[in-house]
Parts: sequence; structure tokens; C-alpha cells
Amino acid sequence: MKGVILAGGTGSRLRPFTTIMNKHLLPVGAKPMIYWSIFKLREAGIHDILIITNRESLTYFIQLFDDGQELDVKLTYKIQKEASGIADAISLAKGFVEDESFIVMLGDNLLEDSLSPFIQKYKEKKEGAMVLLKEVHDPERFGIAEIDNEKKEVLSIIEKPSNPKTNYCVVGIYMYDQQVFQFIDQLIPSERGELEVTDINRFYIKNKQLTYEELKGWWLDAGTHYSLHEANVRMYQRSRKRKDK
Ligand code: DAU
Repeated sequence: MKGVILAGGTGSRLRPFTTIMNKHLLPVGAKPMIYWSIFKLREAGIHDILIITNRESLTYFIQLFDDGQELDVKLTYKIQKEASGIADAISLAKGFVEDESFIVMLGDNLLEDSLSPFIQKYKEKKEGAMVLLKEVHDPERFGIAEIDNEKKEVLSIIEKPSNPKTNYCVVGIYMYDQQVFQFIDQLIPSERGELEVTDINRFYIKNKQLTYEELKGWWLDAGTHYSLHEANVRMYQRSRKRKDK
């Protein structure tokens, strides 16, 4: 399975840092943020990775990683011309993934769990998509799911609901089959002018093809000043624990 990391967008909630710097290059622990997504994929045995970013930032990623050999991964890069949404960015992965299923990680998502068991579960499915869920205290910030506990299926997702029905956040890690590209072709921009990942997932829900797994460990999206701070605390705690062992 191949992996795709999204590292574009505007990072508007992290200004003024992101006025001059791509969000995924900001420090989290002792590394720029994007390292952690690469490490998570690599830990799950995914070494063939596409990084999608904007034109201005591409040069910094190449300076950092080149072809990824030093990190024992094979990196390919693709430019998203405008920050027109997560689904628009995913559409750019078509040639890279060829006819395989693949995993997408939003580059500002950090998590404790290994992805291996989830990828294993997804591979056991014949078709469709899988998302990962985590209960959160601030559901208004995320895509929020209603679920069928027994069938392990997602019944609905609402993007940043003002009256959330549950606390189950759809985290920024998605496993898709080839149907995703047909679904993206049918999307229209949302009120915020973006092609939304939640609208992709709604196509899978309509076909009863969106299953889920729940994360057990901590998860966060380092897209705001506070959550970036929290991400730093988590990563420093993690490296201290490892040294103590
Ligand atoms: O973090 C999880 C949440 O991520 C989900 O619960 C939401 O359903 C999903 O829509 C997304 O919400 P955000 O509003 O937090 O997404 P954001 O615009 O911050 O972008 C997330 C990542 O995707 C970030 O690493 C940048 C990248 N991105 C974003 C856009 C809009 C791109 O690479 N290109 C883009 O055009």
C-alpha cells in the first residue's frame, strides 16, 4: 500500500507563523511537524510516499528530505496549485497510487497509535473506505460522525457542526479504494469554497461502504496555536519516556 501526506493549505489558524512558513515545517518536538507523518507511515511498513504541497513550499521539503533515502522511504512530490480543499489535493494522487488502495494522512495530524492494525483491518475489506475516529471535547472543530456500533459503519458525517450529535471526530487519516477519484470528480465546492473530504466520505456512506475503527491513544490536529503547543508537549514527553527506558 502507498501513502499520501497532505502538506499544503494556508494554515490560517497559525498566523503569523504561517504567513512566512508552511505549517508542516513548524517545530513539533525536535523535528518539523511533517516528520511525524512520515514516521507513522514508515512504522506501518509504508515506504512509498507522495507529499502534496504548494509551489512555494516544495523547495523546503526537497531541501529537508530530497528523495527520502536518509529516512528509508521513497518520496515523490506533487504541487497543489491552490488550497482548494483536501479532496482537491487527494485527486492529485491518482497517477501515483495507480490502481491500488491507499492511505491519506493530513500532515497536521499527530497520534500515538500505530497504524498497522488499522491498515490490516482495511486490507481485509474487499472494497470501500475506512476512517479512524476519536472522541473529542471540541467537536465543533472537526468532521463529526454518527456510527452503527455493531456493524462498525459510519452513518453520517457533518463537517464542523454547530450542534454536534456525537463527539466522534473523523481524524485526518483515510483509507480509500479507487472509487475515490470518481467521487471527487462529482464534488462541488462547499460554503468555504473547498472540495471537502467529508463530501467524499458521504459517497462511501451512501453506498454503505464506510467502516471505522477507533483510536485508543492520544490524537491531535496541530492546526491551532493551542493544539500546536499540545503537540509539542506530547512529543517531548514521548522522547523523554523513550530515553528513560
Ligand atoms: O484534523 C481532522 C479534520 O481535518 C477533520 O475532522 C475534518 O473533517 C477535515 O475537514 C479537516 O479539517 P480542517 O479544517 O482542520 O482541515 P485543514 O483545512 O486545516 O487542512 C488539514 C490538512 O490538509 C492540513 O495538513 C493542510 C492540508 N490541506 C488542506 C487544504 C484545505 C492541503 O494540503 N490542501 C488544501 O487545499
